[in-house]
Amino acid sequence: MKKRWKLLLGIAGIFLVIAIAVVLIITKNRKTAETAPEFVLLYAENQTEDYPTTLGAYYFADKVYEETGGRIKILVKYGAELGSESEVLQQMKYGGIAFARVSLSQLAEHIPEMNVLQMPYLYSSSEHMWRVLEGQIGDEFLLKTGSFGLKGLSWYDAGARNFYSTKPIRSLEDIRGMNIRVQESAMMADMVSALGAVPSKIVYSEVYSALEQGLVDGAENNWPSYESMKHYQVARYYTIDEHTRVPELQLCSSAIWDKLSAKDRKIIMDCARDSALYERQLWAEREKSSRKIAENSGITVIELTAQEKARFREAMSEVYTKYCGDQMDILQKIMEY
Ligand code: GCU
Repeated sequence: MKKRWKLLLGIAGIFLVIAIAVVLIITKNRKTAETAPEFVLLYAENQTEDYPTTLGAYYFADKVYEETGGRIKILVKYGAELGSESEVLQQMKYGGIAFARVSLSQLAEHIPEMNVLQMPYLYSSSEHMWRVLEGQIGDEFLLKTGSFGLKGLSWYDAGARNFYSTKPIRSLEDIRGMNIRVQESAMMADMVSALGAVPSKIVYSEVYSALEQGLVDGAENNWPSYESMKHYQVARYYTIDEHTRVPELQLCSSAIWDKLSAKDRKIIMDCARDSALYERQLWAEREKSSRKIAENSGITVIELTAQEKARFREAMSEVYTKYCGDQMDILQKIMEY
């Protein structure tokens, strides 16, 4: 009799476990169905997976997902999977890509008045640039993205850009005649020409092989790009002249923005701003660690003397006339900010 009871209890136990499992599976499926996102949106980033701007993008995507209760899901595609920055901007115009982080220099190709924010030797320091971007001028320029079918969300940090090359650059004479890779930007090309060098517009993902194959003698970028794209392995001289600080923008396609409710727009805007603060923290750390990695590999770091830097700066006067001739008021304001 005892044995029979035990057997019955055992069978009942097995049924109970199966029943619980079935209930759990059904509930889980229902939950997934209930929280299926209303929007699944693409976010383009051309840097590597662990780069500060990419980590900022993930932070943004996670926060938006959380704050909208899973209604808006953002898929971050890094490493230029969705195309170069200029291709991404074209696709955003039509809503094919919803979000991106791009370098201002690419946007300035479509909205030339943006150039004033990235002029050579414009900012005296990172703090100076952030005072400008976080103030009224920064807000006004975020709005200007509307003329290219975009909604500017926030500013990201990209530090200062310096030259790096296969032969040392210690003076204006050294850079003269060198073939220097620049972004796909008219202003950057003119800046390099003004120094007496020959600019080559090459897409970011191709810079390593252009340096390696000797198609160019040098390029220019910040420490984290120089390190993460492995340019330091093929261009062993890094000349600190901090010729530009090119801010970066987090953008939303207007075609997508217009479809969102006021509540969702506010969530996106807030999350973008939070992610930008997060990115700036990561940036400061990455600048240091990237520099260390490059230096430990045995590169030569050259600091331009103050006198030489003044010569580089003076060479820029024609670039200022060409790109800021009709924006002298705003230029003055930025300089004095
Ligand atoms: C920086 C910037 C990129 C840009 C690159 C370039 O790394 O973050 O967005 O593409 O410069 O020089 O092209």
